[in-house]
Amino acid sequence: MIFEQLNDGNCRTYLIASPDTHEAALVDPLLGREDHYLGVLRDRGLSLRMVLDTHVHADHLSACALLRDRTRAEHVVHEQSRVAEGSLRVEEGRRIKVGAIPMDVLHTPGHTSDSMSLRLPDRLLTGDFLFLGEGGAGRTDLPGGDPGMHWDALQKLQPLEDALLVFPGHDYRGNTHSTLGEERKRNPRLQPRSRGAYVAWLQGLQLPAADWMKAVVMANLACTRNNKGIEIPLGGAVCEVGAGCSGVPQMTCEALMSAQEPLVLLDVRNPDEFIGPLGHIEGARLIPLPELPRRLGELEAFRDQPIITICKAGGRSNQAATILQEAGFADARSLAGGMGRWNQLELPAAKG
Ligand SMILES: [Fe+2]
Repeated sequence: MIFEQLNDGNCRTYLIASPDTHEAALVDPLLGREDHYLGVLRDRGLSLRMVLDTHVHADHLSACALLRDRTRAEHVVHEQSRVAEGSLRVEEGRRIKVGAIPMDVLHTPGHTSDSMSLRLPDRLLTGDFLFLGEGGAGRTDLPGGDPGMHWDALQKLQPLEDALLVFPGHDYRGNTHSTLGEERKRNPRLQPRSRGAYVAWLQGLQLPAADWMKAVVMANLACTRNNKGIEIPLGGAVCEVGAGCSGVPQMTCEALMSAQEPLVLLDVRNPDEFIGPLGHIEGARLIPLPELPRRLGELEAFRDQPIITICKAGGRSNQAATILQEAGFADARSLAGGMGRWNQLELPAAKG
């Protein structure tokens, strides 16, 4: 299988092609880049059979309609998509093929109602259904979004194997891909929560206004071929909601180092990280994040004291502080930047 990511920025466009039949598909191509994509296909001797939108995008314009004009490739969308065009509408469980390469459709709504993920034999293209690590997943507060539907869709991942590679529609931290097993450990959206708690968490977030996104959605629904007059702000992780948006009270490393009050330090990393190269803060107790909900009893004595949650970079510790808050702990704060920042500042860490 030929598999390449064709963009430089935060939006990901994947080329999937068969070396045997020279048939190719493009997933989530960007308007304005179509000459580049067609040049790549020409250089590789590939013919474009399919262009796919994993969902109606709110942060960039899709090139699918224009690429279909220029190549007669099928424009594949989920059957619930409200795009004006789209020549092949697919449903849950549908298998589409690029040469002999199978791509199975998984309906994974929540970011939008028409979001789909594509399962290839060894990998899952998740669109905005799931990002990498602390990136979490796409926001669920845009038109058509629904946090409860997102929780339901996440349950579809349960039977899938840890080794499955995950390729998202965006990444704002320069990561290319990961595995489902890694996401199960690191992604705040995949930490254990009831459906009710998950919905309450996402609905409680104060996300930046995104009025400009409505204009982008409208243009994509109309299958525009013209990117003039659509303002798309540069930079910023506009699509994602990970742990960093949760409004969790923070404590800086400097403030922790000079704190006079007695603090309970709760490290929520995995045991191998606790004794790994970044070390841990002297006196910290370890409860890995996935175990926290069922081990809250161990913290009962500290219910009214300040508890500082700690992880590697601040993602999991935000989740942990949220879990503590929801369980009624009076003062849970997350260590901003985690042990990564603590070590950057060369503050004392116990190693081994
Ligand atoms: Fe999106």
